[in-house]
Amino acid sequence: MSSHPMGTDLLQQDTIRDAVRETYGSVRPSDRRVAERFYSAAELDGLPDEAVRVALGVGNPVRHADLRAGETVLDLGSGGGIDCLIAARAVGPAGDVIGVDFLPEMIDRAGRAATQARIPNARFMVGEIEAPPLPDASVDVIISNGVINLTPRKVRVLAEACRILRPGGRLALVDLVLEHDLPPEIATHPAAWAGCLSGALSEIALYKGLRRAGFREVGIQPLHGFGIGECALYPLFSEGLLALLRSRVPQERHDRIAQSVFVRARKPHEGEDLPGRARG
Ligand SMILES: C[S@@+](CC[C@H](N)C(=O)[O-])C[C@H]1O[C@@H](n2cnc3c(N)ncnc32)[C@H](O)[C@@H]1O
Repeated sequence: MSSHPMGTDLLQQDTIRDAVRETYGSVRPSDRRVAERFYSAAELDGLPDEAVRVALGVGNPVRHADLRAGETVLDLGSGGGIDCLIAARAVGPAGDVIGVDFLPEMIDRAGRAATQARIPNARFMVGEIEAPPLPDASVDVIISNGVINLTPRKVRVLAEACRILRPGGRLALVDLVLEHDLPPEIATHPAAWAGCLSGALSEIALYKGLRRAGFREVGIQPLHGFGIGECALYPLFSEGLLALLRSRVPQERHDRIAQSVFVRARKPHEGEDLPGRARG
């Protein structure tokens, strides 16, 4: 469905958003394999089984985010809430963790998990990452795990992240980047987009997007190769899509269609020049 007044979404942004919503709206908790790939037994200890079985990220942003006691953290696209729960333990009772997700069912699931795990400093709000319902300069750290690739409006999302961070605040994201273009049948496949593959940028495009959005000290650190074996861990990749990947992606790239990366960046302090060309 298009929300454009002319009835046509030339860039197909609404179509993509609707496909992503539909996909995640029908996701049910599966097994613990995704979580056990990225989180240690100590990190998973005490978390409700449902939150663990609905982990759908592509890494572990909290492990790299260097969270400190008392910080306020926002998780963009918090899903079943696993990273929020782990972040809430890291920032302790004086800290605050807010998860934002556009699906009310994910928000309910994550809220239940926080209650069950007796983690009172994690709370969840329905909202779009393109316009998160948070005031300017209100958060110390923004984390996200496998979500930025799902939006066609990445620079808008990153600019909103910059708005919400306090001056000097940090961005700590995990997502996939592409080293090679995907074959057209994969690039245009709705489930491959919903699975974080087709919407992935190259590392340089991601870097440029972060700079355009206003961030500085951008660092992109490779984490894991992401091949057909990894895709098969996620309920979003049907047998049909996996078969399409096997038949269309060159054999030598089957173990590495994409690469997961940790992205760190910092919002400039007041008075610090914004990134870009110097004037005068
Ligand atoms: C791949 S899952 C990752 C969930 C969670 N970060 C994790 O690691 O398990 C993507 C999540 O982002 C949410 N999402 C996708 N696009 C969104 C958008 N534009 N605004 C808000 N939430 C979005 C989906 O509803 C889903 O819960």
